[in-house]
Amino acid sequence: MRRKLVAGNWKMHGTLAENDALLSAVLAGMAGVRAQVAVCVPFPYLAQVQAKLAGSPIAWGAQNMSQHGKGAYTGEVSAAMLNDFGCTYVLVGHSERRAIYGETDQVVAEKYAAAQAAGLTPILCVGESLNEREECITEQVVGRQLDAVLGLCGVASLAKAVIAYEPVWAIGTGVTATPDQAQAVHAFIRGKIRALDAAVADDLVIQYGGSMKAGNAVELLTQPDIDGGLIGGAALIAADFLAICKAG
Ligand code: 13P
Repeated sequence: MRRKLVAGNWKMHGTLAENDALLSAVLAGMAGVRAQVAVCVPFPYLAQVQAKLAGSPIAWGAQNMSQHGKGAYTGEVSAAMLNDFGCTYVLVGHSERRAIYGETDQVVAEKYAAAQAAGLTPILCVGESLNEREECITEQVVGRQLDAVLGLCGVASLAKAVIAYEPVWAIGTGVTATPDQAQAVHAFIRGKIRALDAAVADDLVIQYGGSMKAGNAVELLTQPDIDGGLIGGAALIAADFLAICKAG
């Protein structure tokens, strides 16, 4: 049985004081949550979040990392550095990284490989833009994004990874994929992996992300191939995030 994973992606939000208040409220409301819960926070707050969440049921991680181990890469953060702060997870290939910072499928695959080599669990984000959906090439786009990782790391690597399907048109827009739309792409992803390794496919956690909120979480999280959520805006409000965690 796959355990649901609800992860907050705080993006570039938060202050020391806001983070402390948010996490205090989330920790106080965790009774009755069956899903695994995690938060992916901005780099400067990793030490704060580690101190706050160590020994709690909530895991933490980062939103990006370098594909390189160390060296002259000004402004970058390595997987080993994330390990120093007790991270379990790291997002790789979030659509904002791909679209705004030009991360290619190849770079994302290299980050995924570097994360796993350091013992971190990558949350590999995939998803199509609105144009791509309208052109009916969602499966080609998501398939291509997955193939880059499969080509570099192989299907067995997915035994130690999470996939997040995030349609770009649903991120931060308030437009959520319908449960049927999301389920169809999740089933496509699992089917593609199943063709390579059925056991890996059965155990693979595939999250949905894109305007998931308290009001639509249950109908999304009860789809057969949706194993959790990657939550942006709603993860910044304790009551909303907890409601999604409880729906999982
Ligand atoms: P929203 O939940 O704000 O749409 O963001 C989703 C997302 O990008 C999570 O990574």
